[in-house]
Amino acid sequence: MATVRASIEVGLDPSAVFETLVDQLTFALAQTGIQIEAGVGGRVLAGPLTVGKVVSWRSGERVALEWHPADWRPDEITEVELRLEPVTGGTRVTLEHRGWGRLIGDPDALVGWFAGEVVAPLLRATSPAAFGDWLTDRHARRPSGEQARGVYRDPLYHYPNFRVILEELALRKEDYLLEVGCGGGALLKDALRSGCLAAAVDHSPDMVRLARGENQQAVNDGRLSVREASADALPFPDATFTCAAMTGVLGFLPDPVAALAEVRRVLVLGGRAVVLGSDPELKGTPAAPEPMASRLRFYEAGELEALGRRAGFEEVTVARRDLEPFAREVGVPDEHLALFKGRGDQGARFLLARRQS
Ligand SMILES: C[S@@+](CC[C@H](N)C(=O)[O-])C[C@H]1O[C@@H](n2cnc3c(N)ncnc32)[C@H](O)[C@@H]1O
Repeated sequence: MATVRASIEVGLDPSAVFETLVDQLTFALAQTGIQIEAGVGGRVLAGPLTVGKVVSWRSGERVALEWHPADWRPDEITEVELRLEPVTGGTRVTLEHRGWGRLIGDPDALVGWFAGEVVAPLLRATSPAAFGDWLTDRHARRPSGEQARGVYRDPLYHYPNFRVILEELALRKEDYLLEVGCGGGALLKDALRSGCLAAAVDHSPDMVRLARGENQQAVNDGRLSVREASADALPFPDATFTCAAMTGVLGFLPDPVAALAEVRRVLVLGGRAVVLGSDPELKGTPAAPEPMASRLRFYEAGELEALGRRAGFEEVTVARRDLEPFAREVGVPDEHLALFKGRGDQGARFLLARRQS
């Protein structure tokens, strides 16, 4: 019988750690098909199986679970504890899984289990490929956490893009706008001022919650709905929207043609889409630094146009726009204005597409 233990010290007080830990653990477990119900008596469910039961839930201090690691041996019960202890300058978080290994028995097999199931995944998670993926997701590809919420609630450096998109869309109150990859909903806030209706999707649950919260009045009034969905499987019937926007998303898409084809499918005849490109000049700059840069796809104007055509759009052009005047207007600090000039004389690329059949 063994105890598996891991711990980390962080510079936050225990109540802040507890909140984040529970939030992120619930999310991460859900990604693997495990649901955890908060509070004493809550269950931990893996599909139809109950794999755990909450026996202690003390905010800022500990969560303890009675754990059932083997449904073929219901009498086998172990103990899991997440413990938070104040230390100088912060909190020590410890995970302990006690009573583990009885069903493994053989010490050599127990070492093998530890090497393969604990040490190797930790080393993988802390190696460049997986760590780079995690950072890319956390900050931009599927943003989550407090820092990302702060950035996408008020994304100053994206406002110049929004200005161009809104100019191109020239929204009227008769419009029904779709935004794909809405982040914190800042573009929607501006767009809704036109009086239009809007719907949006994002595959980050954190961003969906934020976008709804930032546009609560419009949601309450039935003028906006925000849903968790992937760009390549939009949860809307054909020919729903009069226009669509996508900004800061294209470069992250593994199959941009599939996503653009979905946008086209849900547009009415004559419906227009404005999509911010993913400009090659940005690679490696503060707008697309590593580890994001090598995980993003970048498109020259011709490539961008080809994506639109392959998605089925009949009318496709690429507009180049100088973002610097907009950057000045929205209050980007002088020392960062060069970022908006950095795409050659012709400016940032926007795909303008229209469905015609
Ligand atoms: C860099 S952020 C841009 C957010 C917002 N559009 C803006 O400009 O502030 C990219 C957003 O696209 C979302 N996203 C990326 N890939 C997606 C996909 N395949 N389906 C849905 N959303 C996606 C991310 O979750 C994230 O919120």
